[in-house]
Amino acid sequence: MLQRSLVLLKPDCVERRLMGQILARFEARGFNIVALKMLRVTPALSKKHYAEHVSKPFYPSLEEFITSAPVVALAVEGLDVIRVIRDMLGATNGLNAAPGTIRGDFSSSRQMNLVHASDSPESAARELALYFTDADFCEHDLLITPALRAGDEQ
Ligand code: PPS
Repeated sequence: MLQRSLVLLKPDCVERRLMGQILARFEARGFNIVALKMLRVTPALSKKHYAEHVSKPFYPSLEEFITSAPVVALAVEGLDVIRVIRDMLGATNGLNAAPGTIRGDFSSSRQMNLVHASDSPESAARELALYFTDADFCEHDLLITPALRAGDEQ
């Protein structure tokens, strides 16, 4: 199923100059970037994004981190993209993430785990609406699509 996921390249990713390498993995996998924006997450946006974690003991530290430097928000489109990107990221804690995953290759932290990605279609719809408006999406039929998957893979 063709889906969209909200991906955030977090402050540690920007600070460590890993944006290009990580973006390249999503492109190489055959996914399309259909919206992209660099921004500073405000405390208010952090509380909306991490609504289910606001009451947890680690939330103040998480908010301090996510608001500490710019992030890059991406809308990534592709078949089963929500599940596949979560697989590409690896376990939340970089120390537990398998080699070959983004966190397994670049992170040794639970908080500084480089990338956030939506974990369900419902989360993706909610999170995409926090970062993008309809006008931010660039719809375009890429010429490379027939080289990436068969016509009946929808
Ligand atoms: S997951 O992957 O969403 O299921 O992970 P989860 O355990 O639910 O964690 C959600 C986000 O909270 C961050 N997190 C923490 N930050 C700081 N300290 C502690 N102890 C901690 N535990 C979890 C974690 O990095 C997740 O961020 P996102 O942006 O969702 O990856």
